Amino acid sequence: MSLSREQMLVEMGISPIWVLRDAPAVESAPSSEQITEEFAPAVPVVEAPLPVRPVQAVGDPVATAAQDVGALDWPALARQVAGCRACSLCEQRKQAVLGVGDSSPDYLFIGEGPGADEDAKGEPFVGQAGKLLDSMLAALDIARGNRVYIANAVKCRPPGNRTPEPAEMAACWPYLERQIALLKPKIIVLLGKAAVHAVLHDDKSLASLRGKRFEYAGIPVVVTYHPAYLLRNLPDKAKAWEDLLFARRTLREQQAPALPF
Ligand code: URA
Repeated sequence: MSLSREQMLVEMGISPIWVLRDAPAVESAPSSEQITEEFAPAVPVVEAPLPVRPVQAVGDPVATAAQDVGALDWPALARQVAGCRACSLCEQRKQAVLGVGDSSPDYLFIGEGPGADEDAKGEPFVGQAGKLLDSMLAALDIARGNRVYIANAVKCRPPGNRTPEPAEMAACWPYLERQIALLKPKIIVLLGKAAVHAVLHDDKSLASLRGKRFEYAGIPVVVTYHPAYLLRNLPDKAKAWEDLLFARRTLREQQAPALPF
């Protein structure tokens, strides 16, 4: 069953926000352009430093992960991730979760790491948070596999669904770095603090990072809340919706030909 945009916004729990108090009742949610205008932020482009490569030394598990990853194609990358033993997260995983979606996407969404459902199924964001993420994508008329790829900062489930440690994200970084290089997304959306740490090496609050355009390797990067956080903090879904519209606007600006004046 395909849902209307309004149903999607209801699904995200933010639909009432778009009802204009003095306007006549409308049958559908306002157009994205209307919404986008409301949230057009003054956005400095913030050049993020490229993430520092993990220190590599012979015998260092990080070096083991990083070896030759930069030259791998998709099948070889998938094999290497599946057998990775670069950090202790491998010890309790059922399987590593590489990512899913369009191999030539407009959007790359990056989360934190697999949870129990993802560990069991081998696909990112298939639990409750994933359902919300799918609704968020659908509200933008995109879907996993259609203009979108979904990956995580770490490929193996942190025990108890804890946040991955910086060292674990550093050990896994070469894989994400290679995914980004292979995918060549037109925009990257970072879901939550762990993803921000992994890609931008920035540990500031999400509130202070939202609405800004960062760059990684020449690709625009924007930041929003993690869907699992949104499930616990429902009012912030409206902010996440603003962030998605900002991402779409940033993508469109990226794609628009430069005007001759
Ligand atoms: N949370 C994440 O960050 N990633 C997943 O794949 C699932 C839940």
